[in-house]
Amino acid sequence: MINIAVLGYGTVGSGVVEVIKTNQSNVNKRAGKEINVKYVLDLRDFPGDPVQDILVHDYNIILNDPEVDIVVEVMGGLNPAYQFTKSALEAGKTVASSNKELVASHGAELLKIAKEHNVNYLFEASVGGGIPIIRPLNQSLTADEFTEITGILNGTTNYILTKMFDEGSDFDTVLKRAQEKGYAERNPEADVEGYDACRKIAILTSLVCGKQVDFEDIYTEGITKITGAEIKYAKALGGTIKLLGKSIFKDGTVYSMVSPFIIGDEHPLFNVSGVFNGIFINGNMLGDTMFYGKGAGKLPTASAVVSDVVDAVKHQGTNIMTIWEEEKVTLGDFNNFECRYLVRVKDTNTEEAIKAAFGDVDYVDAGIDGEKAFLTNVISEGSFNEKAKTLDVIYRLRTTL
Ligand code: HSE
Repeated sequence: MINIAVLGYGTVGSGVVEVIKTNQSNVNKRAGKEINVKYVLDLRDFPGDPVQDILVHDYNIILNDPEVDIVVEVMGGLNPAYQFTKSALEAGKTVASSNKELVASHGAELLKIAKEHNVNYLFEASVGGGIPIIRPLNQSLTADEFTEITGILNGTTNYILTKMFDEGSDFDTVLKRAQEKGYAERNPEADVEGYDACRKIAILTSLVCGKQVDFEDIYTEGITKITGAEIKYAKALGGTIKLLGKSIFKDGTVYSMVSPFIIGDEHPLFNVSGVFNGIFINGNMLGDTMFYGKGAGKLPTASAVVSDVVDAVKHQGTNIMTIWEEEKVTLGDFNNFECRYLVRVKDTNTEEAIKAAFGDVDYVDAGIDGEKAFLTNVISEGSFNEKAKTLDVIYRLRTTL
């Protein structure tokens, strides 16, 4: 029998207990051993809930119990999750985590500690909720040099953008629905400002590079400025708006960003809607590949955590090799990133002034009075910012068009 302890009985923690209970025989069969939830750690009490009998409030009970082999850290946040994880690994316990903040900040260090103690630090659920992406990157897609990873990595914002696009609903109403469904972070700013997607693209990029990509270095723009007008322009262009986490690997340099983009209907991520996430990867031998599934929510995320528990049982006594080390990556200058921009300007800007700034552009008509909108040619971020200074720009959106 393998005893596990679940740290945190919130949305994901209760999901982990439910997944193990619901699929107990299959999970045990896959692991080759019986998996038993010995403890649940939470500050709160849960009278009437079956976990009340195994609930503890003191982490030392778990840490000092030699019968606990695997710690499931689904608390979120850096503290005390960092100390708890570190001490569990140092005590020779494998840790399975959904905590993207912690993985993005301390992943390389915790992987190193796990290796030193011949245990594992596993975090399939930290990116893409229920979608297998960490394990494929570590273990399956090992023959390629990657040229690009582009993902819809946040379920909450994808849900919001989808509802705004399909129903014309306003931002605040849809955010509230996403929170009720358990998709959003406790502080939804992390979702809507792109911070959550930023941590996730930092994790994926670190795993690909084998070095630390600091999320603080990644240009990050959220969706709070997207209005019905941007949606209308996206529709006029035959496209849609998606919040993308993107890393481009070019000539030995990595360019990473999080930003809303207009994408066309030929883009592989065009049909990734609602709470679903999609991760598109291009490898130099493999070509294009896509990962798709539910990127947020209690049971999909818990399913990924439990898959790590099963993997941990199968690899007891063995450290699963990963290449992510602590050495830091210096990202390429975001000013050199190139794309076409959709630009909305005040109607007072003449076509001559627009031509003087951006040359020949493609005008876009979405039936909105009092402004002009156009698509630039492919230009760099730095060049765009210089040229845009000569006009009264209402808003600009990057595109993959
Ligand atoms: N708030 C996150 C999301 C949860 O919406 O994607 C899953 O990481």
